[in-house]
Amino acid sequence: MTQPSPDPARRADDRASDRPAPRRDHRPGLGVEVSAGAHRSEDVFRRGVVSFVRRSPRMNISQTRAMERLTDRYLLDVPRDTTSTSVAPGARLDLEKVFGRRAPLTVEIGSGSGDTLAAVAAAHPDRDFIGFEVYLPSIATTFNKLEDAGVSNARIVMADAAAGLEHLLGPGDLDELWTFFPDPWHKKRHHKRRIVNPDIARLVAGRLRPGGLWRLATDWDDYAEWMLEVLGAEPGLEPVDAAPVTTPDETDPLAGRPGLSPRWTERPLTRYEGKGVAAGRTVHDLTWRAVGSRP
Ligand SMILES: C[S@@+](CC[C@H](N)C(=O)[O-])C[C@H]1O[C@@H](n2cnc3c(N)ncnc32)[C@H](O)[C@@H]1O
Repeated sequence: MTQPSPDPARRADDRASDRPAPRRDHRPGLGVEVSAGAHRSEDVFRRGVVSFVRRSPRMNISQTRAMERLTDRYLLDVPRDTTSTSVAPGARLDLEKVFGRRAPLTVEIGSGSGDTLAAVAAAHPDRDFIGFEVYLPSIATTFNKLEDAGVSNARIVMADAAAGLEHLLGPGDLDELWTFFPDPWHKKRHHKRRIVNPDIARLVAGRLRPGGLWRLATDWDDYAEWMLEVLGAEPGLEPVDAAPVTTPDETDPLAGRPGLSPRWTERPLTRYEGKGVAAGRTVHDLTWRAVGSRP
């Protein structure tokens, strides 16, 4: 069956569904441990619905070289469950082993080509960063950007971020979470594929330390509204900007909605944001924080 694409610009023949994981014994990478007592039945995200479609991992020469040269430095290999982007339940990261220290951790869901990760990680050597991304060519491009920026405090995990958050991290491990320009999944029947959903909001509320931030941005009005509703319904989260934030755009249908925030000044302009702006769309930022520990 052909999978739907979140982005009509993506070619229909350039997609593949999530592949079964290769049948090989996993050698846990540095800092990854699999606990014997893990129970698959507790996996909240084993719904068979993911927020991405796998596309053919065709890479250019620069990306191929980046994979060869920089995988050991930047890729964090994790044990798999049933598919190549899954994460084995119980595969908790030992963050101290991964980074050689314990520093405030930021995670990006869907780090794309790594523009934000490379810029912010380079600017904050006192913090650690993990990007979850499922598209191999984008991961290779990220490797090049991390190297060019001289970054040593960031790693990429090629896995579904929902599974990664659930299995690789523990309660309160996260200082910040970013979800910038997630695939919009416009059609109503595809809304269940949106990465921002009640399940992940609940998970995020528990993975963030109390007071930790979830930063989001989207150039789609309906997704911004959806985010406001999903986050607003999660008791473990509250908006940082409780008062309405005015946007310069008077035609913005969401102007004045509580829960939006001013653009985060450290967020660089990415290709996806640029496309949205060029098409005349308004970009909305949201900043929410975890109110405390969850049950
Ligand atoms: C529209 S792009 C935005 C990329 C980046 N955040 C930016 O602003 O440039 C969305 C990215 O999220 C990735 N993605 C979607 N769902 C994901 C998931 N569940 N786990 C990890 N990556 C995901 C896609 O492969 C894609 O690269």
